[in-house]
Amino acid sequence: MLAQTTPWYAHALQRTAAGPAEPLPVPARMEWTTRPGSGPGAEILGPDLRRKRVLELGCGPGHYAACLAARHGARVTGVDLVGLQVRRARSHYGRLANLTFVAGHALHYLQASDEPFDAIYSVFGAVGLVAPELLLPAITHCLKPGCLLVFSVPHPLRAGRRPSADDRPRRDSVVLPDRSRLPLVRWDFDADCWEKHLNRAGLWLASAQEFHDARQNRWPTTLLITARKL
Ligand SMILES: C[S@@+](CC[C@H](N)C(=O)[O-])C[C@H]1O[C@@H](n2cnc3c(N)ncnc32)[C@H](O)[C@@H]1O
Repeated sequence: MLAQTTPWYAHALQRTAAGPAEPLPVPARMEWTTRPGSGPGAEILGPDLRRKRVLELGCGPGHYAACLAARHGARVTGVDLVGLQVRRARSHYGRLANLTFVAGHALHYLQASDEPFDAIYSVFGAVGLVAPELLLPAITHCLKPGCLLVFSVPHPLRAGRRPSADDRPRRDSVVLPDRSRLPLVRWDFDADCWEKHLNRAGLWLASAQEFHDARQNRWPTTLLITARKL
């Protein structure tokens, strides 16, 4: 029921109505930004991912989880709030080994998880959409010491926005496949504010990179954060 009240459910429903999900070829590389082919790839998660336990929070149709499992030998779990998305991900990539898709809220999945991960990541997924004071400590709890959380979020200055003046979430919207929009709230922090929240949760900022997309405008579109559990 919870999942059906989110705009992500409407998003998945429109995608599903547009056509059945078919098996897809595995993407050639991992993408973190709004511009395919730009920015780092899977190497940002660590030099050797073979046999590593990796978790994606908000995996959607599963493209990047599939890439990490099939091309980098990681043992990947992708979690998504919307069961329809998980069904699509399984239709696209369910044939691959070492890849599991689970329907659930990222926070609940982390809280119920007892075996720690070698890396946790989110590509415009649950990080930024769930209260950081709850989600980040849960992520820390599920990471092995020395391991990484990597996430990309829409840049807080995208399309000429002003930086958030406080720690509260801001109104934003999701663009659906038919180009209509539905409202949602997003924790739209700049790198300094993410660093403060990461530190409170026992994670240390390793890098914060911003990326532009020349097709859109002169403002940065993506903020990519790497943080380490010490
Ligand atoms: C913009 S899509 C990104 C999907 C995927 N990471 C990609 O880049 O293709 C955001 C996804 O996050 C999922 N999501 C949103 N809130 C979530 C939560 N609290 N827990 C798990 N998944 C969530 C949505 O259902 C949606 O599939």
